[in-house]
Amino acid sequence: MYESLNFELDQLKQKNLYRNLKKIDQREGPRIKIKNRWLIDFSSNDYLGLSQNTLISQSIIDGLKKYGNGACASHLISGHFCVHDELEKISAKNIGLEKSLYFTSGYLANLSLMTSIAQKDHHIFMDRLNHASLNQGALYSKAKFSRFRHLDYKQLESLLKKKSALTRWIVTDGVFSMDGDMAYIPELLRLCKKYDAYLYIDDAHGFGLLGSSGQGIIEHFLEKKLIAKEDLKRVIYLYTLGKSAGVSGALLNGKREIIDFMIQKAKPYIYSTATSPAIIEGLITSLKIIKKTPELRNKLNELIFFFRATFKHKERMKNSNTAIQPIIIGSEKEVLEISSILEQEGFFVPAIRPPTVEAGLSRLRVSISAIHNESEIAKLINVLNKVLT
Ligand SMILES: Cc1ncc(COP(=O)(O)O)c(C=O)c1O
Repeated sequence: MYESLNFELDQLKQKNLYRNLKKIDQREGPRIKIKNRWLIDFSSNDYLGLSQNTLISQSIIDGLKKYGNGACASHLISGHFCVHDELEKISAKNIGLEKSLYFTSGYLANLSLMTSIAQKDHHIFMDRLNHASLNQGALYSKAKFSRFRHLDYKQLESLLKKKSALTRWIVTDGVFSMDGDMAYIPELLRLCKKYDAYLYIDDAHGFGLLGSSGQGIIEHFLEKKLIAKEDLKRVIYLYTLGKSAGVSGALLNGKREIIDFMIQKAKPYIYSTATSPAIIEGLITSLKIIKKTPELRNKLNELIFFFRATFKHKERMKNSNTAIQPIIIGSEKEVLEISSILEQEGFFVPAIRPPTVEAGLSRLRVSISAIHNESEIAKLINVLNKVLT
């Protein structure tokens, strides 16, 4: 076995697809320390800078004093504390759906949903650029599964016409994790109504950023009056908490039946130790900050605008107005070289390669955070404009 593993590892190295773990010594504001050098970090999903928020840290510290370090059991045994319940109630109320369930990670939430709710006589329709955890969940589920071209809702409709099933699911990222563009939820809901389907939105990268109180892509389209509250009965909405909320975990929101069924049947949820209640205290504080601090979103949007306006090589950009700003390079080798030049110049911008993105579309994934300032972005742009041709 070791021989065949080594063979595959060597192949990855030859193709510039081998991945190394970067060891981070320390993080402070928008900077990370790697091998004793401070770099300005453009790699994290800490879009609002809340991973560094001291009010959240204080809530976690208070929680540690109150509960100790861990939850010590799974939710259905004795790991489900009142704070888990409180966080879920806050989430359901904020999002405007009936019930909510906390998971230790977004990946686990996606596997849990797909493997418990999606049954043999169901059909899942997925955007081609959906996150790996959604693809994996669909593959592990008993349901049939088709993919449509990215944001091509005409192709989706023709698939919906062809594939009949007892229950049909349209599954999409809200904001796409490697492209930064957005699903157009009004059209997806129109298709759901027409074809009696359900809509599952994974808004890992939209929550905290979109909508006037940061409640994500649903709030965004409700405020634009492009969708209506009564349409939400067809929606299941997930957001992760390791990104804008700056801590970790995920909250899945939907009709009572969905959540109650998952508590009974979702194996990754049932057979996993609950997250420490101290962390949950931190998350409750984080959700309050997200809701009440539009200034963070305003600042982030100004920085995104500044980045897009000053970056010269427009043909390399994607149609993204979110914090994820990909710069398309093409080859794996070249993207690694540019990422390494940026590192020498004091910036950490990760090289994203297949299988995360399609071959030939390797890219730098610049993520902008409200914790950056304009001069840090100007310095990065200056180097990028020079290095790229
Ligand atoms: C769209 C999307 N969904 C789910 C996940 C997984 O979430 P987590 O990191 O909480 O496991 C990610 C991770 O980056 C993601 O981009």
